[in-house]
Amino acid sequence: VMVEKQGFKHFMLKEIYEQPGVVRSCLEAYIDTHWTAADHTHSPIRLNLPADLYADLQHIQIVACGTSWHAGLVGKYLLEQLAGIPTSVQYASEFRYAPSPLTPHTLTIGVTQSGETADTLAALAMEKQRRSGHSAEFQARLLGITNRPESSLGDLVPHIIDTHAGIEIGVAATKTFVAQLMAFYCLAIDLAHHRQVIAPTQLEQLLEGLQQLPAQIEVVLESQERYIEQLAHDFAETQDFIFLGRGINFPIALEGALKLKEISYIHAEGYPAGEMKHGPIALLDAKVPVVAIAMPGTVFEKVLSNAQEAKARDARLIGVTPMDEHEAAETFDTLIPVPHVDEILSPIVTVIPLQLLAYHIAARRGLDVDQPRNLAKSVTVE
Ligand code: G6P
Repeated sequence: VMVEKQGFKHFMLKEIYEQPGVVRSCLEAYIDTHWTAADHTHSPIRLNLPADLYADLQHIQIVACGTSWHAGLVGKYLLEQLAGIPTSVQYASEFRYAPSPLTPHTLTIGVTQSGETADTLAALAMEKQRRSGHSAEFQARLLGITNRPESSLGDLVPHIIDTHAGIEIGVAATKTFVAQLMAFYCLAIDLAHHRQVIAPTQLEQLLEGLQQLPAQIEVVLESQERYIEQLAHDFAETQDFIFLGRGINFPIALEGALKLKEISYIHAEGYPAGEMKHGPIALLDAKVPVVAIAMPGTVFEKVLSNAQEAKARDARLIGVTPMDEHEAAETFDTLIPVPHVDEILSPIVTVIPLQLLAYHIAARRGLDVDQPRNLAKSVTVE
């Protein structure tokens, strides 16, 4: 397939801009838009997964690498908080040599954009092997989340969620990450419905919120890209960055740090904001900017107070937060405003400015954004 940049300077920027469309495709593919709370006897989600995959589920284990592992962490939050299923997330490269003891009624999910990452395939092959000799239902409890159903992953596992993101050229994953998050929203909502642990009205609200995401991403792109491009000038010589988030936005802090490392070669750490006091705070001074994700919800006040601790160490504080939150506006030195989004849906929106920040810092430094040194789009060797 011939893919072109269509006027964008790099594929990565083009792919960042494709994200509203990717989210729309996922919504169209998997969600019944006419569903209302009155239809609660059937699920609004259409993943085409067999019913016995969900029966008596007691545990979910997720294996993945890199950005896909971050999607897995958001997935864990959703599967636990919406569907009430204990979920563990493991690096495939670690899991394959030290797997958790196998328990029945466990669903194993491999997340891999390319469907070709050697460690992820090996971890899943091992899980397949460990289940042989058990019941047919147990053997079938393997699910892949991928952007390439025709990949080696597709041959390995019996069930697939296709993330419909289209081909991604930039080595640093952007639109495929957002698509993986959409797959986890659908899976968690479907499971929550199946287990009857979500009120129909809450489900209706979630679906309405999901439908608004494409337009909300567009708002961030339209209102913030130029500003972030300007902001990037300040950081062309910066050597260390800290990204903070809590709850469902902790994995987004990790992803923001990973994007920056991958393409700008600046050292960055993502940390759960409440853990900063147990180490990273010692690194802070006026030379280390701190990017904090502060979305109204369960941990909003907590993140703001953690951010204030960083400010007391002279760090420049950059907040990804809704525009009209006065307390946040007073806390941060620099604001990257995003629309008001329900906390549980916010990762899809908060990741966008972090992708743009990494992109513009790398572009400003004149680096090869689409082909960063030492990295490969898919890592097919151990
Ligand atoms: C490589 C890529 C990353 C990606 C990771 C996992 O390291 O550079 O962008 O997140 O592999 O890839 P996968 O295809 O398994 O999602």
